[in-house]
Amino acid sequence: MSEIKAFIFDLDGVITDTAEFHYRAWKRLADEEGIPFTREDNEALRGVSRRESLARLLKGRPITEEQAQAWMARKNGYYQQYLTEITPGNLLPGATDFLADARTRGVKIAVGSASRNARTVLDSLQITDQLDAIGDGYSVTRSKPAPDLFIWVAGRLDLPPGRCAVFEDAEAGIDAALAAGAYAVGVGPAERVGHAHLRLPNGLADITVPECLERLGNL
Ligand code: BG6
Ligand code: MG
Repeated sequence: MSEIKAFIFDLDGVITDTAEFHYRAWKRLADEEGIPFTREDNEALRGVSRRESLARLLKGRPITEEQAQAWMARKNGYYQQYLTEITPGNLLPGATDFLADARTRGVKIAVGSASRNARTVLDSLQITDQLDAIGDGYSVTRSKPAPDLFIWVAGRLDLPPGRCAVFEDAEAGIDAALAAGAYAVGVGPAERVGHAHLRLPNGLADITVPECLERLGNL
């Protein structure tokens, strides 16, 4: 029997392709405000809160608190426009089967996302009912890379974090998982998630549930 009793999935970039929508929404704001912002710059925004994302986009450019609030609201408005088009077709390859197989094998499944839009996205993907716990941008104060969200989700599952494997596409997310004492599974390139216990370059389609449990169990 594996000692891993639950999988905690990040949402944006792991279960669904909304990481791209976050990028496009920030890009639109940056273009309107004449701030240079590339896809490469966007890598630093993955997984971090809306507030921290704005700070990283600004790279030290001074703006007032009033402007900051208005810009975050505008970006969120653009993002929510993209979200109206989300359907179960936006689940990333492998996600549906991996989640279903985990449940069949008695592994609990949960989401731990920094996003305040997570519940809307999960409803549109039609997977809310399958989840044993949902942590989102409202659950804790300190966001990733702090371990708080994953500790909070593990608590909801009634498990110590050390019995959970966290799936993350962001450097900050892997940092958070490791700091929580959970197993960390990285989705994406080594430059971003190479510090995880296990890496899936192309995401959940790369591995089956028994393979994943075995590889993490043999660390
Ligand atoms: C994370 C995303 O899941 O949520 C970040 O990876 C995003 O890009 C963060 O900034 C906060 O999301 P939201 O929807 O609350 O602005
Ligand atoms: Mg993510």
